[in-house]
Order: sequence, then C-alpha cells, then structure tokens
Amino acid sequence: MIKNQWYAVLDSKQLKKDKLIGVTRLSEKLVFWRDENNEVNCIFDKCCHRGASLSTGKIINNHVECPFHGFQYDSSGKVNYIPANGKNSKVPDRYKVNAYLVKEAYGFIWLWYSDEQIEVPEIPFFEELKKGFSYGGFSESWGVHYTRAIENQLDVVHLPFVHKSTIGRGGKTLVNGPVVKWKENLMTFYVKNENDNGQTPEKPNAIQEYDKLFSLQFQMPNIWQNRISDNVRILAAFAPIDEENTHIYLRFYQSFIHTPGLKQIVNWLSATMNKVILHQDRRVVLTQLPINSELAMGENLVQGDLPIIEFRKRRDLLKR
Ligand code: FES
Ligand SMILES: [Fe+2]
Repeated sequence: MIKNQWYAVLDSKQLKKDKLIGVTRLSEKLVFWRDENNEVNCIFDKCCHRGASLSTGKIINNHVECPFHGFQYDSSGKVNYIPANGKNSKVPDRYKVNAYLVKEAYGFIWLWYSDEQIEVPEIPFFEELKKGFSYGGFSESWGVHYTRAIENQLDVVHLPFVHKSTIGRGGKTLVNGPVVKWKENLMTFYVKNENDNGQTPEKPNAIQEYDKLFSLQFQMPNIWQNRISDNVRILAAFAPIDEENTHIYLRFYQSFIHTPGLKQIVNWLSATMNKVILHQDRRVVLTQLPINSELAMGENLVQGDLPIIEFRKRRDLLKR
C-alpha cells in the first residue's frame, strides 16, 4: 500500500451516530465512531490492556469504552479512565493506541495513511462530482489485492470478452491507443476500440483529437470514474482491506433528475444494473494470479494495456 495518501475507506452511510464500527482497512484493525458534532474518529481496534476488540464496546461521552474492563479511549487513542484504578487516579501516558487522521467528504470516510507527520494535502476527488449530482450505490468485498480490482477498471481490452452481453457488445476487439494523460495523480484515458477489419492499431501518440473520445479517469490511490456523459458517471472506490482483500464501493451518479423519490429510484436501479456488469468482471478477476500486481512481474502486456502500465509505474514512483 502506498503511504502518504488519502484513501476512501468507508461509505459515510455505514457510520451511524452512536454506533461503533469495526473494519479492517489497509491491513489495520480499525474502530470508527462519530462524536457529538458528527465528526468522525478512528483508532486502532485493539485494547492496550488485554487485547479485546474496542469496536464491540460502546460510546460514552464521545469516548470508546472497552467491553472487557471498561477502559475509556479518547479520539487521540489515549486512555483517560481506568475504572479499576478509581476515577481519581491519573492514567499514565503509555495507556494508548494509535489514532488515525480521518475526514468525511463526498459521501465517503477518508483515511490519511502515513507514519510521518507531514503536511496533509486536500482530499482528491473528481471536481465535477462535487456539486449537482446525486447517487445510488452498493458495496461488496472481493478476495483480491486492490491493484487487481483497480486494473480491471483500467482495462480497455477486456470489454468484448468479459462484457460480451452488456457494455462490450459489438465485437470491437481491436484497441487503438489508448491515450493516457496525467494531471498530478489523476489519470485520464481515452478509448478508441474498433472492429478488426485487418487494420493496424494506431499508436497512442498517432491518435488525432483524442480529447473527443470516450474517457475514464483514475485518481490515485483508489478512486475511479467512467465519464459516460456530462450528466452520468459511474464511480468506484477500492478500499484496501489487506493484502488479499478489497472492499469495492460502486456508485451511479447523475445530474439530470432532481425530483425527490424519483431520483433515488433511478439511482438505485442504475446502480443495480451496474452490479451485473461488475459481477461479469468479478468472475474473471478472482481467478488472476498472482493476487496482486507489480511493475515488473513478468506479464506479457500489449499496447492496449497502457493505462495499466501507467498505473503500475505511478504506484512504483509514489512508493519511493
Ligand atoms: S481488555 Fe480492554 S479494558 Fe481490559
Ligand atoms: Fe469490466
């Protein structure tokens, strides 16, 4: 996993008021809760006393109370009450667990994954989706490293095979380009797939007016969007659970229906249709070996895999 990045790790709706939620993300056991101002907090989900999971405890005065012997933790991960020692005893500093920097934005909970104290940048999100869109979605876990799940969404070669009956209809097996452009850590890739009439695929830099082509975007480290049109987008966030599992949040965004009730129905129905497509992917991606991807791993890639190659290179660069 790449350090010093904001990762989308939970859907805001998962985190209800007055409820602890325990999940594994980025290979760490974490407990999340909201305080009285609705601010999100996150600390390590293992009591420093005798190792019980804090997420099965409860929230008392904005603190997490361990279910085993009642130690109470604040949002900085410090214990400030040990019932067995009495309320007038001072708690030594060593009674603490890790706390994580978390923020809520755009309907997600984001976690700043780092072990350094550095200046934290803004949360990266697709600019157009910040205003005017509503969405519906669902989420599910896949037994793959998040690199494999992400690369599947950067793969413009698989469409006529995996999605033969849905979005890959028409047998456009020949892949021109694709053209890949970066703006900081945001990748835009432009797709020009065609029927194979014996022509040679165009090289990425030979494609004229590529910006008029259909395009998709990936924002490092873990969000993706399909720019179906100005008003319709599919968004996915790939929350790393650990080295072998990923939780995927898939959303349908639209900005043309605003009628309450109707828009929820349309968003939900469209998200459900996209589940069918995602499950076509899942069937194949779960079989890929090895379970994660690396820059140099001996795969025999083709020209059409350029967005995947670019993703691997960027990960490699950010890991340094
Ligand atoms: S294990 Fe948590 S208070 Fe004892
Ligand atoms: Fe796919």
